[in-house]
Amino acid sequence: MSDDKNNSYDVIIIGGGPGGYNCAIRCGQLGLKVLCVEKRDNKKLGGTCLNVGCIPSKAMLHSSELYEEARTSFADIGIDATVKLNLKKMLESKEKAVNGLTAGIEFLFKKNKVDHVFGFGKITGKGTVDIDGTAYSTKHIVIATGSEVAKLPGVEIDEKTIVSSTGALELTKVPGKMLVIGAGVIGLELGSVWRRLGAEVTFVEYLDHILPGLDVEVQKQATRIFKKQGMKFELGRKVTGVNKGTSGLSVDTEASAGGKGKAFDADVVLVCIGRRPYTDGLGLDILKVATDKRGFIETDHFKTNVENIWAIGDCTHGPMLAHKAEDEGVAVAELIVGKAGHVNYDVIPGIVYTKPEISSVGKTEEQLKEDGIPYKKGKFPFQANSRARCNHETDGFVKILAHAETDEILGAHMIGVNVGDLIAEVCLAMEFKAASEDIARTCHAHPTLTEAVRQAAMDVEGWAMQM
Ligand code: FAD
Ligand code: NAI
Repeated sequence: MSDDKNNSYDVIIIGGGPGGYNCAIRCGQLGLKVLCVEKRDNKKLGGTCLNVGCIPSKAMLHSSELYEEARTSFADIGIDATVKLNLKKMLESKEKAVNGLTAGIEFLFKKNKVDHVFGFGKITGKGTVDIDGTAYSTKHIVIATGSEVAKLPGVEIDEKTIVSSTGALELTKVPGKMLVIGAGVIGLELGSVWRRLGAEVTFVEYLDHILPGLDVEVQKQATRIFKKQGMKFELGRKVTGVNKGTSGLSVDTEASAGGKGKAFDADVVLVCIGRRPYTDGLGLDILKVATDKRGFIETDHFKTNVENIWAIGDCTHGPMLAHKAEDEGVAVAELIVGKAGHVNYDVIPGIVYTKPEISSVGKTEEQLKEDGIPYKKGKFPFQANSRARCNHETDGFVKILAHAETDEILGAHMIGVNVGDLIAEVCLAMEFKAASEDIARTCHAHPTLTEAVRQAAMDVEGWAMQM
């Protein structure tokens, strides 16, 4: 924390999540006098991502995956083990990961000469910010206030039995039945955690498919795999209300198109129907910082309509992803010092950390068709990959899409174990505007899952050799 009596800065960043803290570190590296303000009651940096998002969810995904594997797959490979769940310890191990990483940001702040203060930041005028009654002045303000859970009318979240992702990461007892409203990223990740730990998990999804926006072949294969794992899907259905009774919850639903009511009972209901930008109490009205109808701050190259006020991350447009927020934070810091800060929105990977994982970058086939872009497609199943077969993890495939004439890679869509890591190769290739042939002719180590990416790239020109 700053011991500087002079409350005057080059940059004040409101919000200490991946957008804010990375922007602050880059500002510090570039020699700017920078302050990051964070309002979390727990007085921890890292935002949604480190405290209640990416990190705790991945910790629980990892632990629950090991638990399930030990229980169901070890015997098949010759390991006889008696396995017992210790949920308290699992939750403690998750907290340990969170605490280590949030403390790590304080260390990075110190290292890069970033001041931080815990309190509520409010923009009071051009270049002025109030933090819990103390006035600060600054040349630039960066709004990085993130997002919050979207509410469903008639469904009151109490974080005990009707939970958001935050409560779902802290349940102290495995629910008998969990009903998940929304089969998107949060639902599938946290639904997977509690299914592995023993809950019966049912999804009620408004659309007729899961994971909206993803490649349709991936959606279909994912649905098949998740059903095989025991998750139940009520697609094309919406929740109209949740009633609390003495013996649990009763969830009323009807077909999305109307009519056809159906009720479900549950011990825990997880509401995950999306997130909305969080700008409450920020003072946007004072300087008339423009937002769209849904509350997202309008920006042009991260600049709001008010000079020297910038906005990044979940509170502005684009995918609500930590790495997108991070890249925007870096770009803004660089633009402030006159460098060419830039984010390539065509190459932002998205990953769903289920088992198997799902990853994607660039355009889907559906988008290419819609945009009238001619494309070629290469696909390779993990069933034909030697490493996947050694590991008995053969579900899924890699798909690469390239321009029909230039062969430039336009997108990649994968489902399979570790595809969250495999996508990085395609991202790098796309940044270099590589052709699918560039991947196809690059030597890939054997036996690795990366060979599936190479074979899919070979398949674009019809010469995959291992299927
Ligand atoms: P945030 O991380 O939300 O940080 C904003 C911070 O600003 C908050 O800490 C808030 O307290 C603070 N703040 C707000 N207003 C004020 C104010 N007026 N004064 C002071 N402080 C203020 N993304 C991924 O890329 N990968 C994942 O695996 C992933 N998993 C997720 C899992 C879950 C369960 C959830 C909920 C989200 C997940 N996300 C994931 C999304 C990711 O967390 C967000 O995209 C990311 O945190 C956005 O970063 P941000 O900096 O814009 O906002
Ligand atoms: P989401 O947008 O991924 O999924 C919400 C789902 O709820 C959609 O399928 C939607 O059709 C459905 N839905 C909406 N209203 C409904 C209703 N009334 N009844 C039934 N279904 C309804 O949002 P989610 O899962 O809440 O995640 C929020 C954000 O967090 C995402 O934008 C995602 O980017 C981010 N996130 C990212 C992760 C990752 O990168 N691995 C992990 C978790 C979250």
